[in-house]
Amino acid sequence: MCGIIGYVGPDEVVPVLLDGLRRLEYRGYDSAGMAVLGHDEIGILRAAGKLGNLEQKAYHEPLHGKVGIGHTRWATHGAPTEANAHPQTDSGGQVAVVHNGILENYGRLRHELLDAGVELQSDTDTELIAQLLGREEGSLAERVLAVLPRLEGQYAVVAVHQAEPDVVVAFRNGPPLVIGLGEEENLVASDVTALLHRTRRVVYLENGDIAEIRRDALRLLDVSGGEIERAVDTLVWDAARVEKGGYRHFMLKEIFEQPDAIRNTVRAYLDQERRGVNLDGLGFSREELVRLRRIHLVACGTSWHACLVGKFVLEELTGLPTEVDYASEYRYRTPLVGDDVLVIGVTQSGETADTLAAMEMAREAGALLATVCNVRGSSAWRLAPSQILTQAGPEIGVASTKAFTTQLVAMVLIALGLRSARGLADETDAELVSGLQRLPQAVERALAIDDEIFALGTEMLADATDSLYLGRGILYPIALEGALKLKEISYLHAEGYPAGEMKHGPIALLQEGFPVVAVVPGGTNRNKLISNLMEARARGAAVLAVADEDADEIADVADLTLRVPKVHSLLQPVVTVVPLQLLAYHVAVELGLDVDQPRNLAKSVTVE
Ligand code: M6R
Repeated sequence: MCGIIGYVGPDEVVPVLLDGLRRLEYRGYDSAGMAVLGHDEIGILRAAGKLGNLEQKAYHEPLHGKVGIGHTRWATHGAPTEANAHPQTDSGGQVAVVHNGILENYGRLRHELLDAGVELQSDTDTELIAQLLGREEGSLAERVLAVLPRLEGQYAVVAVHQAEPDVVVAFRNGPPLVIGLGEEENLVASDVTALLHRTRRVVYLENGDIAEIRRDALRLLDVSGGEIERAVDTLVWDAARVEKGGYRHFMLKEIFEQPDAIRNTVRAYLDQERRGVNLDGLGFSREELVRLRRIHLVACGTSWHACLVGKFVLEELTGLPTEVDYASEYRYRTPLVGDDVLVIGVTQSGETADTLAAMEMAREAGALLATVCNVRGSSAWRLAPSQILTQAGPEIGVASTKAFTTQLVAMVLIALGLRSARGLADETDAELVSGLQRLPQAVERALAIDDEIFALGTEMLADATDSLYLGRGILYPIALEGALKLKEISYLHAEGYPAGEMKHGPIALLQEGFPVVAVVPGGTNRNKLISNLMEARARGAAVLAVADEDADEIADVADLTLRVPKVHSLLQPVVTVVPLQLLAYHVAVELGLDVDQPRNLAKSVTVE
C-alpha cells in the first residue's frame, strides 16, 4: 500500500525522493507526489498514475531544496486523481502531509472543518490531518501532539512545516514507519527497501511515537510529549537483493531465488550436527508446551494457503488439532483461545493489518503467540514473543513466491521443533531433516522445465477467460495458490477446488477446451484425482497436469504435463507450486501485463 519517504540532508531532495519512491513502487499505488521545503513556500508536485508522470512534472517544473517528503498513494478516500494525491496541505499551504492508512472518524472531522469554514480541496482523509495541523500553534511536533487525540484509525504520517525548514516529523498508529540514520542525513520511510541503499542503521517507530527528524539529530517523543529512546537496529539485507539483477521482472528473479531462500531458511534452523531442528519448543517453556492442546494458524492470501498446508503438516507430525483462519474473519469471530492454544500469525511482510489484529487478539486472550514472518523488525516480528524468520530476503514482486515456499518450509520446521520439545521425535524426523536439506536441489529441478512446455501451457490458459485448478490432500492448497497466482497477475479468472468437490458444482463450467489445471497428488488420492480428470475430459476440458516423475498414468488423461521431482510427501507442495508460479508468470507476460505491480493490488496491506 502507500509508500512514504522523507529526507533531511545535504543532497538535492527531489532525486532522493524519486529514487525512494521507485524502490517503494512494489507496494502498489495509483498516484504519486512530493513536497519540497524551499525558501519561500513549500513546493508541491503531484500526478495521477505511474511514477513516470511525476518524474515528467519534476523535470518540467523543477523544485530545489534539501528537505522533503514523497508518497505513492493507493486510493482509499477519493479517486486516484491528482487532487487526491499526496502530499496534502492546509489551506495556507504551510503544512504538507503524506499518509498511509485510514482515518475512521473522517466523516466527523470533515464536517467539523467544513462547519469551521475550511475550504477542503480534496476528498481525502489526509487533507484533514494537514488542515488540523495548520490550525494549531507552535512547532510541528507540538502541533502533532495537539492533533493526535483527534485522530481515530490507522495512520502513518510524515509532515513538514514551512516555518521549520530543517525538520521532518513522523508519527504512526498502525502502518509502519522506519527511520534511517545516515551520515549527515536522516530519512524516514514506510519500509526499509527505500533506505537500504543509503544506510543500514534504522529505528522502528512504535505506535504513538512522534519523531522529529533533523539532518544531524533524531528526537523521539511519546504521546504526552516526553522524550523516549528506541533501539537502533542494523539491517542485514543486502541492497543488491532489491534490484532485478538481470531478470526481466522481480517475480521471475524471486521464483529463481527459491532454492537459496529455502536453503537459508533450513540452515538457519538446523542444529549444529544438522540432524535435528534448533527450534526447541519455539522458545516456549516446558509447562507452556505441556499445556498446549491446539494450534490456530491465521493469515491472509498466499500466507493463508501456506497455513492450509501447515494444517496437514502440523496435525500429522504433532497430533495437535490445527485450525486455519483468514485473519480478517478470525478477528471478528469469537475463537476459543486460551493458554492451551498456540496461535501463529503467518505473514511475509509482517505488516498485514488483519493478521496483526488477529495476533493481538490472541495475545490478549492469553494464547502462546508466534509468527512466521519474512521481515525482521516488522510489526508481527515485534508483536510475537516467538519468531520464525523465513530467510527469503526482500520480496518485491506483489505476487508472493519465495516467501510462500519458505513459509511451507517453516511449517515443517515448527512441527519438528514441537515434536522434539514434546518428546515425539523418531526416525521420521531424520527423514524430514534430510528431505529438507535436499529440497533446494529438487526445487532447482522443478525450475528447469523447458520454456517450450510453458509456451504450450500459456496457450491453453491465456486464450481462456476462466480455468479450474484441482488438487487433493496436501496439494489442494497448492491448487488454490496456483489459481491465485494466475488471477493476481494475468487478471484471468481461475478457481481452485478440491478435486472431489468438482461434481458438486464447478463441473457445470466444463465445456470444449475449458482449461483444467490438475495438481496431481501421490498415494491413494492419485487415482481419485485421475478419475475426476476423466470426468473433466469426457466433457471436453483441456487438462494441464503438474505431477511428480512417478505419475506415469497421468499421461493418459492430461493434454500437457509439467513434471516435478518426487520428494517427501510433506515437502511435495514446495516443489509442486513452482511450475504453477512460472505458468502464471508466462501467461501474464504473454498478455503484456505489469507482472510486478498488478492493478489494484498492494504488496503490504496495512489497512483492513
Ligand atoms: O504480507 P502477508 O504475507 O501478510 O500478505 C498476505 C497477502 O496480502 C499476500 O499473500 C497476497 O495474497 C499476495 N499478493 C499473494 O501473492
